[in-house]
Amino acid sequence: MHSFHYKQVDGRNTLHCEDVDLQALAEEHGTPLYVYSKATILDHYRRLDAALGGRPEGGKSGSSDALVDHLICFAVKANSNLAILNLLDHEGAGFDIVSGGELYRVLRARAEREKEGPASDCTFAGVGKSYEEIKLALNEGIYCFNAESEAEVAYIDSVAGALGKKAPVALRVNPNVDAKTHKYISTGKSENKFGIDFEVVRDAYARAAKLEHITLRGIQMHIGSQLTSVEPFVEAVKKVAPLAEELKSAYGIEFFSIGGGIGIVYQDSLASGEAGWWKQRDSGENTPLTIEKYAQTLVPLLKPLGLRILLEPGRMIVGNAGALVTKVLYEKKGAAKTFEIVDAGMNDLIRPALYEGHHDIVPVTPAPDSQGDGSGSSVPVDIVGPVCESGDFLAQDRVLPPMEQGDYLAVLSAGAYGFVMASNYNSRPLPPEILVDGGKSRVIRERQTYHDLVRGETIPR
Ligand code: LLP
Repeated sequence: MHSFHYKQVDGRNTLHCEDVDLQALAEEHGTPLYVYSKATILDHYRRLDAALGGRPEGGKSGSSDALVDHLICFAVKANSNLAILNLLDHEGAGFDIVSGGELYRVLRARAEREKEGPASDCTFAGVGKSYEEIKLALNEGIYCFNAESEAEVAYIDSVAGALGKKAPVALRVNPNVDAKTHKYISTGKSENKFGIDFEVVRDAYARAAKLEHITLRGIQMHIGSQLTSVEPFVEAVKKVAPLAEELKSAYGIEFFSIGGGIGIVYQDSLASGEAGWWKQRDSGENTPLTIEKYAQTLVPLLKPLGLRILLEPGRMIVGNAGALVTKVLYEKKGAAKTFEIVDAGMNDLIRPALYEGHHDIVPVTPAPDSQGDGSGSSVPVDIVGPVCESGDFLAQDRVLPPMEQGDYLAVLSAGAYGFVMASNYNSRPLPPEILVDGGKSRVIRERQTYHDLVRGETIPR
């Protein structure tokens, strides 16, 4: 679903998020500014849940009449704002966390709920869990640690022993499958640091089973992020499913987590609208990878296992639900290129610099003679930020309608791995985050102040 679209305001097209005018929002709150659509987040979560079998009215995911017994653990790393975690919590989501900080956020997001064991549907992933993090997770009653090495399992065993507890553990298996995604976000090949090699994971389970303070609860895999075809998922599931079955009978494991990784459309997203929103580029053949196709293909492979299936989607839930709104500060015509210098930089959205990530950029209020979607234009420009780095760009050689100082632009599909990867580089305060719900907008994180920038720093006397 797609909640960013143009609407006529006073005879001019203006980009809206749901029913909220982004021009007005930018004028009220300043830029740069992250804006998220509640309706899109809910739609994506609910569609995935329904495609896996849904749940009874008001119930949790994973009901017995579900197509497949499942639990969607939202990958908090994609967007960890408390309001968004709270929204997903109310939908019945669990959470996949990678740090003590993320666990703290989940606990805070759930603080007002009367809920038994607020971490009882959370999985704890990551290759480098510290003593403090393991202890916190054990004390909060984490559903499972997804361990990535035997050294980690041994360490979790010792921490659990010292606390007089038993730690629930799943091993992350690295199935050595090519996810066909950017090399920095591919995780399921043997050259990646993640998981335990498929060939030796059985032995690792056998050794872990002998540890006194460990309970083997599941098996996990995650082959990469931004996958645009279902085949690598199928290959990995087919490879790991027999092992999961074996582990179920050997050690009584109860779940198989197939990780996250479902890709989203970053290009031409606005023009494609509702119907084409999930159209994916599949090896150049334009085969759509829809939520439904993902579920319909994988459920038949997973259901016979009789295990609870965990999913850890991040980007798919929130990616296309967010935009970064920025203002044009200056135009600079260089000898080789024209630069539009805007007030959002790599410190606000690092994906273009780090992964060569493409984000569509559209004018918030296009000039009346342009197409309204960035297509009615002329010269290719670089959209660059104010940060002192040549890598500080949001787009390069992009054909956009002519723009003027003070115009607002929306950088689309910025809801996942946008704000969460933002930094204070160049001592630039973090932008605010706004959640739109129909015609209403709420500030869910305030813009940082200069005072925030130096908080905790002292000058030794
Ligand atoms: N589970 C595990 C164990 C993960 O490592 C990840 C992402 C996910 C789930 C969620 O994956 P998703 O459904 O969002 O693809 N910053 C990069 C993406 C890094 C992903 C890291 N792990 C980007 O901006 O593209």
